[in-house]
Amino acid sequence: MIITIDGPAASGKSTVAKRLAQELKVPYLETGLIYRAVGYLLSAKGVQNPDDERALRLLSELEIEPSPEGTKVLWKGKKLGSELYTEEVGRLASRVATLPRFREKVNETFRELLKGKSAVVEGRDAGTYIFPDAPLKFFITASPQERAKRRYRQLVNQGKDADYEEILKAIMERDERDRNRPKYPFRPAPDAVVIDTTHKEAEEVLEEVLERLNEASS
Ligand code: C5P
Repeated sequence: MIITIDGPAASGKSTVAKRLAQELKVPYLETGLIYRAVGYLLSAKGVQNPDDERALRLLSELEIEPSPEGTKVLWKGKKLGSELYTEEVGRLASRVATLPRFREKVNETFRELLKGKSAVVEGRDAGTYIFPDAPLKFFITASPQERAKRRYRQLVNQGKDADYEEILKAIMERDERDRNRPKYPFRPAPDAVVIDTTHKEAEEVLEEVLERLNEASS
């Protein structure tokens, strides 16, 4: 069975998706990694305004390997890792995500990859456009201020420079761009279970997800 977990940046969706995949021992597909990988390769080439052609060419050079431990993305055989999680790469990823032909190809690639398999699929449009027929869908969200606080803490814990106001601004801009792209805008699926994590710990959210899963399977 495919379980989709969508939500905005820093909502806590990745933590829940990862834990759920481990619990169920099924592959975990982090769809944002593909957008990030292409964003990273573009930024390495100094491209700020990508087009479909260029993004599709880079996509064809990537390999995606989902497993219960996480999603691996390789470029020409080389594993891409922490370099994908910078704000600059996130910004370019959300630019790339506005390209319709590229999105369609990415989604097709994901469907092909998980054909006939069970998996936890995490992203922005897993329940709306990639797997609209998934039997169980979640939409994990939190206030922009709470999400900025979490990202801020994460960066400080990694010993990196962080400015709360700047992070909040970047999060709100990214939400805005994701929500307002003309094709495939970012929305919760109408049949998704919405969980607001603003005042919740990751553990509580996971319990809620597992409860829903039990209800759906019984
Ligand atoms: O989830 P993450 O923050 O890593 O995604 C980076 C960017 O990639 C998002 O801001 C969004 O613009 C884009 N994205 C998307 N659809 C997905 C996953 C990510 O548009 N399924």
